[in-house]
Amino acid sequence: MKRYHVTTFGCQMNEHDSERIKGMLETLGYREADSREAADLILFNTCSIRERADSRFLAHLGAAKRVKQERPETVIGVGGCWAQSVKEEVFRRFPFVDVAFGPGQVHKLAEFLTSDSLSAQGYFEFEGFAGHLPARRERPHQGWLQISVGCNCRCAYCIVPSTRGREVSRPLEELVAEAQRMAAEGVKEVTLLGQNVNSYGRDLRDSSGSPRRFSELLRALDAVEGIERIRYTSPHPKDMREDVIRAHAECRHLCEHIHLPLQSGSSRILKAMRRTYDRERYLDRVALIREHVADIALTTDIIVGFPGESERDFEETLEVVDAVGFDGAFTFIFSPRRGTEAAQMNDSFVAHEVKVQRMERLVALVQRRAQERAQRFVGRELEVLVEGPSRTDPTRLRGRTRHNKVVNFSGLASAGELTRVRIHSATSQTLSGEELLLARANPAG
Ligand code: 5AD
Ligand code: SF4
Repeated sequence: MKRYHVTTFGCQMNEHDSERIKGMLETLGYREADSREAADLILFNTCSIRERADSRFLAHLGAAKRVKQERPETVIGVGGCWAQSVKEEVFRRFPFVDVAFGPGQVHKLAEFLTSDSLSAQGYFEFEGFAGHLPARRERPHQGWLQISVGCNCRCAYCIVPSTRGREVSRPLEELVAEAQRMAAEGVKEVTLLGQNVNSYGRDLRDSSGSPRRFSELLRALDAVEGIERIRYTSPHPKDMREDVIRAHAECRHLCEHIHLPLQSGSSRILKAMRRTYDRERYLDRVALIREHVADIALTTDIIVGFPGESERDFEETLEVVDAVGFDGAFTFIFSPRRGTEAAQMNDSFVAHEVKVQRMERLVALVQRRAQERAQRFVGRELEVLVEGPSRTDPTRLRGRTRHNKVVNFSGLASAGELTRVRIHSATSQTLSGEELLLARANPAG
């Protein structure tokens, strides 16, 4: 029996793709190895979103090279966004790599492994959905649903349109059927994945010839028996229309959390980024969301130090962060990416130390606001999907609320159960509480 080892970098889409890679390998008779040293097939599912992602992966690739030197029959494969961004160059730079494939060519890995090909092969077309392959779920109660691939946006900083291609949506009926299958297999929480989930369906037509809508998909999935929670990532503020927001208010299983990437609070920088919304429009979306779902948790992504970002532009970002009061934010220093528009811009306007200081100022504000926001949960009883033991204290449990807050709590529930927890305290990142044991007999009550 052959063994595989997969290392995954990057976003949830890559985690999804890796589950499909593993599922596909298992149908070919492979089993997972405990370490790279014990594997016949060593795979990397790579990311290229920032320079750091590249360098982390390259450090791991060195370890694979050593295994290959000791056991030349080991097959080394590199998939994902970094592979797509360098294509055939991977074989010139790293001659010990046997197979490379982009995110649209995961299925070709099987073809390669079952052929007699002894030469290195690269597969970089945009043609398949990894979501069509069998999955090996890392957590039996949580599943990914890939609703679309690719991205038609042209954000100036972003490498993804070139690594994942044009946007293609999967048919609504196919997605509902997949969610039904997942529910039958015990999945309780489904996360819809796409590079820009809420533009879903523009390339599809319903029976009367109208485009499909993301809100329609949300409603159809809300009706799937057994799926208790629906999440999605990531939406684009430009497509956050009233029908999607209404679906939040009306669909019982749709969680009270939206990750809505801001990127910058300065309209001038947003324009240079080609985000197609400005500060007012973003704030207006937030107001509309809160009008319909007052208690919603909002998280975001922010880039500091985009080429040309002045102190005033940055202060505008701080103003928006303060005004919105995010429940959490991922913050990044701008990193020029090959082939993107922003990589051509003059990036010497702001010194690196200034970018680092801006990042620190931003993080301090994000944490303060998140901490303040989290206090609204103290004293409440929240529904929690249990993930397993707490990472810091194995005598306690860890789970997630519908607001996507991590909760550490004392209790008796098992992984995969939905239970109710009374919240005693809250930091910017996590909640702490105690399971309501009487509620376990009737978790929905
Ligand atoms: N530099 C820094 N951050 C970036 N992101 C995307 N591209 C870059 C880049 N070139 C951030 C954005 C995006 C998140 C996934 O990564 O904030 O939303
Ligand atoms: Fe990384 Fe973006 Fe590719 Fe995800 S889509 S793996 S974040 S480059």
